[in-house]
Amino acid sequence: MSLLATKDLTIRFGGHVAVNAVTCAFQPGTLTAIVGPNGAGKTTYFNLISGQLRASSGQVTLDGRDLSGLSASARTRAGLGRAFQLTNLFPRLTVLENIRLAVQATRDGAHRRGLNLWSVWSDHKGLMERADEVLQAVALADKAGELVASLPHGDQRKLEVALLMALESKVFMFDEPTAGMNSAEAPVILNLIRKLKEDRSKTILLVEHKMDVVRELADRIIVLHNGSLVADGEPAEVIASPIVQEAYLGVAPKEAA
Ligand SMILES: Nc1ncnc2c1ncn2[C@@H]1O[C@H](COP(=O)(O)OP(=O)(O)O)[C@@H](O)[C@H]1O
Ligand SMILES: [Mg+2]
Repeated sequence: MSLLATKDLTIRFGGHVAVNAVTCAFQPGTLTAIVGPNGAGKTTYFNLISGQLRASSGQVTLDGRDLSGLSASARTRAGLGRAFQLTNLFPRLTVLENIRLAVQATRDGAHRRGLNLWSVWSDHKGLMERADEVLQAVALADKAGELVASLPHGDQRKLEVALLMALESKVFMFDEPTAGMNSAEAPVILNLIRKLKEDRSKTILLVEHKMDVVRELADRIIVLHNGSLVADGEPAEVIASPIVQEAYLGVAPKEAA
């Protein structure tokens, strides 16, 4: 069963159809790479899924539930984690305080939804243990006491991923996660995505230009072109397909380097 799905998802900007009737389902425990030339509609597709933009028509479902009427923050609470879009990092708080707040908000939210988690929520020790576990997972435990504002850019991004873990996101969406990163920071984030994938419980969507990264990480590749889904399948098969060779790799053949 797919966890996340889009059905005929479409958005028009004036006369321009930026995402055109995209129907696609994403399975838990898999990483799907989304590729396509600049302007293909990849970021817009993400915005429609995460709720930053409202679709002109079509649907987004999570666990079979239609998210169409929900705001971006409600979708985050429902389990859609869009990395590096969050303004949720508190720069004047420490790394640990940021994660603790996210863990607490998640447990408090679960309590408000009527689950009997009051005892868990009030269990300070459990909260601290979970926060610590999340920081260990992104290798930031040794920086728990540092102020977020003082962290290097790469560590802030790691913390944003940790925040999604603390929020218990089911879906992790990365839109060109290493863009603007230096050569020391990029592998750290890619490693983190690799680790998330090895966890096998998350559904990961990755927009990425670098074909060597896509080849290594993706279980499946979908190709967007002029807003439409034009290819979908096994990485080797999709990369070899004429549409990708022509429409995508033809645009920037050196980007694989
Ligand atoms: N808010 C917007 N208003 C008008 N046009 C937009 C808007 N957002 C994106 N577009 C257009 O939609 C198309 C797809 O853009 P985008 O999703 O950013 O492509 P990609 O991420 O694949 O490079 C482009 O033609 C872009 O100019
Ligand atoms: Mg984009």
